[in-house]
Amino acid sequence: MYSEKVMDHFMNPRNVGEIEDADGVGQVGNPKCGDIMKMYLKIEDGVIVDAKFKTFGCGAAVATSSMATELIKGKTIKEAEQITNKVVMDALDGLPPAKVHCSVLAEEAIAAALQDYRARHGLDTDGEYAGC
Ligand code: FES
Ligand code: FES
Repeated sequence: MYSEKVMDHFMNPRNVGEIEDADGVGQVGNPKCGDIMKMYLKIEDGVIVDAKFKTFGCGAAVATSSMATELIKGKTIKEAEQITNKVVMDALDGLPPAKVHCSVLAEEAIAAALQDYRARHGLDTDGEYAGC
């Protein structure tokens, strides 16, 4: 029922852990099952140079987090925002319908971490300086 890519990212998840001096940290919970994901981003000159995650959730959530961190590394903030759960699922060759909600955690965790980054740096949602 799971693609080979999902199994690979579940068994050997990339980028698991924490970034101690992260520039943005986001934690989200999945209302459908109570699972939790925490995302850490290192951002330099508007580019995501590193991403790590911790997921307390199912295999599909681990696999999508792993793939999502791989996809956003090296991307600008704006490019990273285009990486929806659909993009992540496609990169994994799909998920069973009952597990689609799991892939939303990664998208939301990235969004939360970017929001935290903006809040810390006084940026508005377009990534432009909001003032001061
Ligand atoms: Fe939470 Fe899937 S229901 S692990
Ligand atoms: Fe909870 Fe997958 S069942 S995230």
